[in-house]
Amino acid sequence: MEIALLAGAGIEQETDALLVSAQPGPRLDAMGAAADARLDGALAAALTDAAFSGEVGTTLVIPTLGRLPARRLVVVGVGAGAPTPDGLRRAWAAGARAARDAGARRVVSVAPPAGDLGEERAYRAAAEGVRLGLYEFLEYRTQDRPTRQIERFDFAGESESARRGLAAAAAVADAVSFARDLVNHPADAIYPERLAEIAQEVAASAGLECVVHDPAALEAMGAGAILAVGKGSAREPRLIHLTYRPSGAARGTIGLVGKAITFDTGGVNLKPTGSGLEHMKSDMAGGGAVLATMRALAALAVPFTVHGVIAAAENMLSGTAFRPGDVLRAMNGKTIEVISTDAEGRLVLADALTYTARQGAELLIDLATLTGAAIVALGPQGTALYGTDQALVDDLVAATAWSGEKLWPMPLWDEYRELIRGDVADLKNSGGRWGGSITAALFLREFTEGRPWAHLDIAGPAWSEKVTAYAGKGGTGHGVSTLLAFLERRAARE
Ligand code: BES
Ligand code: MN
Ligand code: ZN
Repeated sequence: MEIALLAGAGIEQETDALLVSAQPGPRLDAMGAAADARLDGALAAALTDAAFSGEVGTTLVIPTLGRLPARRLVVVGVGAGAPTPDGLRRAWAAGARAARDAGARRVVSVAPPAGDLGEERAYRAAAEGVRLGLYEFLEYRTQDRPTRQIERFDFAGESESARRGLAAAAAVADAVSFARDLVNHPADAIYPERLAEIAQEVAASAGLECVVHDPAALEAMGAGAILAVGKGSAREPRLIHLTYRPSGAARGTIGLVGKAITFDTGGVNLKPTGSGLEHMKSDMAGGGAVLATMRALAALAVPFTVHGVIAAAENMLSGTAFRPGDVLRAMNGKTIEVISTDAEGRLVLADALTYTARQGAELLIDLATLTGAAIVALGPQGTALYGTDQALVDDLVAATAWSGEKLWPMPLWDEYRELIRGDVADLKNSGGRWGGSITAALFLREFTEGRPWAHLDIAGPAWSEKVTAYAGKGGTGHGVSTLLAFLERRAARE
């Protein structure tokens, strides 16, 4: 589907669906009011009859019965008050879905309300909502394929800022959709070696460097933690390293690190039936988000060197699997006593964090579906955010004002460090049940080489059990939008 600008679009536009907005009242926007006048007040009457509230996410589809060149009107509620990025995404996602479900192939939309956001941001948010709201994963579906699809979506407008907004939306929404795809593909299709191939393809098309470290290379680097996790699987582990270099002089070096357990059985500490094993293909969501983010950097002209490092392994149970009690030596020389083979994410990240710090990253951000405890703490939509640098944590939270993702700062209490002190080795890989997300983060901190570091435990929001405002069931692409917003904000400031 293409999203473009259409100069001079108005109520005389011939189209399958003309999308207008309304605030509670209902108060139609100018295009809606013009349409209402042409229909002798029938549009306003229909909104009243349907008790249309105008809240964000509400929609009403009205056939025009030949009285307008547009075959139907789609009214989207935008809520009272000033438009917000997330409100615009939700409103236009709902409007696009309603138009699609009504059978429209071609949609023309009024310009989104801009308020203090400015035109570029308003178009960008609305267009992101359209693309993300219409996302579907149909790769494996041979029956009951949806027949309704929007082929063309035009926004009224012609300004340069509107055009920039749509271009940015395309880059970001493509990246988020790509991250969703990576999660939604089954683990039999995306295993570490295949993920590395996909990364090579991304690198080739997006102009990134890509180096893939196989087990022999990992052995030579002393990456004993990721090697141990990968040992039980017939699919070998890979450490995938992408580098983005800006076209001008780089204004700093940032490291993004992702956990990519392409399937997490729990290993010898096998996850029981009923614990959501069938969703554990999503345990590579952090790595997928990093790969997807890397893909969008050039389009957004990010002025930093960015290392994207993905620790890919499959946590399986077999005669060659690592065991509880095993002692591993990580790349930074620290020894780790395995308490649970199901606490594998922090092991692969240990080596990936050290590796990335040693590439010269001045700050590190990792994303990982790391702990069930983070879901217990913040529920299915919340990301537990940790960091050793308050300014970095604050910047990530500030980026969510644009992305709309829910990040919540959590403590790195030094008192809990003793929970992960090893008996026979330096560290143990589990601090037990209580504060499980915190002790996992404290474990990761041991491998950050003292660099400013932030950790996003995305175990909850990486996957959705239900259709939401602008994502379907399954992979959400969570984190991509926040990372990109973080980088853009930093670029605008420095
Ligand atoms: N991948 C899981 C965490 C997870 C759980 C993600 C549910 C998404 C949904 C992780 O590898 C894991 O198994 N963590 C353990 C750690 C424990 C053994 C210390 C957990 O949270 O139970
Ligand atoms: Mn696990
Ligand atoms: Zn895991």
